[in-house]
Amino acid sequence: MLDAVKRRIRTWRDQGRFIPFVRLVYFVHRCVRDIRHLVCLPFAMRQMRALEARPGTQALVSLAFDRFLGVIRPLQVRAEGLALLNVLKEAPLRRILEIGTADGGTLFLFCRMATDDAQIISMDLPGGRFGGGYPAWKTRLYDAFALPGQRLELLRVDSHDAAALDDVLGLLGGEELDFLFIDGDHTHAGVRQDFEMYGPLVRDGGLIAFHDIAEHPARAAGDAHRFWAEMKSQYRVEEFVESWEQGYGIGLIRKGLICGSAPGGDALHTDD
Ligand SMILES: C[S@@+](CC[C@H](N)C(=O)[O-])C[C@H]1O[C@@H](n2cnc3c(N)ncnc32)[C@H](O)[C@@H]1O
Repeated sequence: MLDAVKRRIRTWRDQGRFIPFVRLVYFVHRCVRDIRHLVCLPFAMRQMRALEARPGTQALVSLAFDRFLGVIRPLQVRAEGLALLNVLKEAPLRRILEIGTADGGTLFLFCRMATDDAQIISMDLPGGRFGGGYPAWKTRLYDAFALPGQRLELLRVDSHDAAALDDVLGLLGGEELDFLFIDGDHTHAGVRQDFEMYGPLVRDGGLIAFHDIAEHPARAAGDAHRFWAEMKSQYRVEEFVESWEQGYGIGLIRKGLICGSAPGGDALHTDD
């Protein structure tokens, strides 16, 4: 019942109908959520500080989804997130860029998958579409994701601004990325722009993952899946999709591996 109401309001938003009402609903929803997260923050921080540094991928995913009073729950399908981590664990991740921090769920996972001396950059546009960003007071919690030798940089910017790219280039100081996660603006044009701006910063053989590669039945606004269809015709891809009917899904390419150059896969790797 509640899901049906949510779906209906999302559809109205995407269709531009009942705009004042839809805006009010989203505003109230965000306020209630932020107040809940603010109240939970001290408890979540305490749990974060008491964590084992590097649990296995299965345990890590359970932590992100089920602990911290739900404050950092990733905006992902659990099995898809786990499948991605099981690929990431094979690669040394020294430099990571995430576009789309939101509640910090995937950022937490990536910090714990990265090397002890990693540099992790995560950007989000305050009030951005497809999640709405995060209030500044949450950076305290996000800062606690990083392990002692890691460097975490949180940029509250529009990834499509040239200044955001300059910020990233400045932070990287000439080094290349091992992993880029594109999960910000979920429109075809938005994903393409993120890929064109930040893809060149990834080293040859480095990983680039995209969220929302499967068409979402109830979401008219996000058409990231159309960009993914284009990627599939050019690159050797791996797809982590629990159900194509459900939507969402994570797509992965390895920079430099174009179509036909190496075996890919379409299975969910859920082993720990
Ligand atoms: C789907 S959420 C990210 C979810 C997060 N990666 C996770 O799994 O927990 C998308 C986020 O991207 C942000 N966003 C949208 N457009 C953006 C842009 N142009 N630049 C930076 N962030 C953007 C939104 O504010 C939102 O918080």
